[in-house]
Amino acid sequence: MQIIKVKNYQEMSNKAAEYIIQKVVQFPNCNLGLATGGTPIGTYQNLIEDHQKNGTSYRDVTTFNLDEYIGLAASNKNSYHYFMNDQLFKHIDINPERTFIPRGDAADIQKECLRYEECIERHGGIDLQLLGIGSNGHIGFNEPGASFESKTHVVNLTQSTINANSRFFANKDEVPTKAITMGIATIMKSKEILLLASGSKKSEALFNLLNLEVNEGFPASILQKHPSVTIIADEEALSRVK
Ligand code: F6R
Repeated sequence: MQIIKVKNYQEMSNKAAEYIIQKVVQFPNCNLGLATGGTPIGTYQNLIEDHQKNGTSYRDVTTFNLDEYIGLAASNKNSYHYFMNDQLFKHIDINPERTFIPRGDAADIQKECLRYEECIERHGGIDLQLLGIGSNGHIGFNEPGASFESKTHVVNLTQSTINANSRFFANKDEVPTKAITMGIATIMKSKEILLLASGSKKSEALFNLLNLEVNEGFPASILQKHPSVTIIADEEALSRVK
């Protein structure tokens, strides 16, 4: 595991974008796994700026998002479909047909989970997966207790995740309580993982990720077993790591 310590959110976002751009330039038809939430927003802004200034092209890139809320249509402003389009896709030259996100409004959610997992496999798997981390150790929406064998599946969000994500909604009652997420096994199959963390709220989670024994009670601990993980984190997020 490689840990890159940076000063603050901006530097984390710069380094993460450089990392992704290098991958896309080297492998123009790579499969990128993407995340939502507050952490990657600065990274996506840098990708957009670079695309506009330097013309890095995403024409042949395919993307797979980690998760989506159940019950929200793609047009809903709080859906991750909307987020990705708004924060990244509509600003770059990616082919919308190559951007995959689980459908939270699918009529048959179990079928949708299978379809999504198969879709990733059919495309040859994920080359580089971008991850944030929940303060309770979740990756994707794999909350504490999620099986390490899990593939794309339905989850009940924990109260701590609902509370954390309510900042994006008008009020807490609007936050969906269920989501579809890539499973831990899906994430672990990615060839490479880039995890970002910023701020003191993530310091305990990073400490645990690196120091706890690998266990399902702290999902991100599984990353200790992945052969190619890079963590880009700022001083506050790494404040508890020696
Ligand atoms: C987002 C995701 C989540 C977030 C995590 C951190 O697609 O899967 O695991 O990465 O909840 O969220 P932020 O970045 O908002 O702190």
